[in-house]
Amino acid sequence: MKVTVGVSGGIAAYKAAELVRALQQQALDVHVVMTAGAQRFITPLTFAALTGHRVIIGLWDSDGEVPNANSAIEHISEAQSTQTLVIAPTTADILARLAHGLADDFLTTMALATPAPLVLAPAMNVQMWEHPATQANLATLQQRGARIVVPDSGYLACGMLGDGRLAKIESIVAAVLNVLHRRHDLANETVLVTAGGTREPLDPVRFLGNRSSGKMGYALAEAAQARGARVILISAPTRLNPPAGCEFVPVTTTQEMRQAVLKQLPQSTLVIKAAAVADYRPRVQAEQKIKRTGPITIELEPTEDILAEVVRARKTGTLVIGFAAETERPLEHARGKLARKGADAIVLNDVARPEIGFDSDRNAATFLTATTSIDLPEMPKRALADRILDEVLVLRRPRLVVAELDAVSSRATR
Ligand code: PMT
Repeated sequence: MKVTVGVSGGIAAYKAAELVRALQQQALDVHVVMTAGAQRFITPLTFAALTGHRVIIGLWDSDGEVPNANSAIEHISEAQSTQTLVIAPTTADILARLAHGLADDFLTTMALATPAPLVLAPAMNVQMWEHPATQANLATLQQRGARIVVPDSGYLACGMLGDGRLAKIESIVAAVLNVLHRRHDLANETVLVTAGGTREPLDPVRFLGNRSSGKMGYALAEAAQARGARVILISAPTRLNPPAGCEFVPVTTTQEMRQAVLKQLPQSTLVIKAAAVADYRPRVQAEQKIKRTGPITIELEPTEDILAEVVRARKTGTLVIGFAAETERPLEHARGKLARKGADAIVLNDVARPEIGFDSDRNAATFLTATTSIDLPEMPKRALADRILDEVLVLRRPRLVVAELDAVSSRATR
């Protein structure tokens, strides 16, 4: 399997040679792309000797005048053929250029052109690492699904002490292997995701709604699609662009969401209900805009419980994952939901915390099943989406796990 190591111009560039060797020891076919800055710290010859492949340096030939013989397509063929692009070290400059979609050299052009996962191993001076600009670029890239191998602390090349040392090589290798493993682990799934906040009309102008931005659901759709799944995203109104590669079904009300979900359910193998669905709607929807004539009373009626209905109507083998947005006694309420609705798992998030939950870029959750409770600490929603899918795969594979254990035990007793 082919992976590409991108090397940018930091003092830790020399450690990329060690990373190449470590990846080769995992039976990976390693190719190397270097930035101009990286060549000031280590020569392309080193990587050519280690990999046996030509090291790609720039979009232009050596005198910088004309494109390489085949560079017009090389960055595309390189981008399409690699299974993972790992950039180590990732300088603050590269982080900024990736976050803003620049493509002024081969490495950043390839990063835009590849569908492969991106693993970034930043290394820089502690002040640069802690600078708000660097941290903002990092958050942007994490939201897009990049895996960040966080730098270590210690003495830095500049003599200062603090965060910013390139992570241990084995940590970078582990991140690459994890990403490679995930790349196709949902290839046999059709994942139905709901997202956003439904709107229940009060009159032609007003509606009852909630603060859901759709970010959690869209992150789940993106993550599932990146892992090989066919994804159907049923979304209430949001300000987000539908993730590329997903089948997109826009809805507005709970009733519309229910109809869309039930229509797609027969072909779904995994349902994840991240949408904030209204529990109540106005019993009467005024035909004309309600005039301001002093206090009014609005009678609300319960909406259909889509999650419970999906659990009842699903075909055998379809996993159903609900969410629970709680503000008090979260575990008690979420466990109650899990039991009442019969879902395979509930993702509990404490929406009383302003820094996570509704409309934030980060979230923290507890993945609850009838027998387990797994804490998923605060992280970007896109990273949390992958972690939730990891736990779903554990649910999907218990039979396999048991089968593997039986096989091991039978071998042991032979
Ligand atoms: O969209 P973001 O801004 O990123 O915010 C993310 C989120 C906080 C909305 C998300 O993480 C979340 O918690 N979604 C569920 C919100 C919600 O409706 O929770 P609930 O506890 O009220 O509902 C429990 C479950 O039943 C949910 O899976 C919900 O989709 C489902 N439900 C609820 C009501 C209803 N009538 N039908 C349903 O299917």
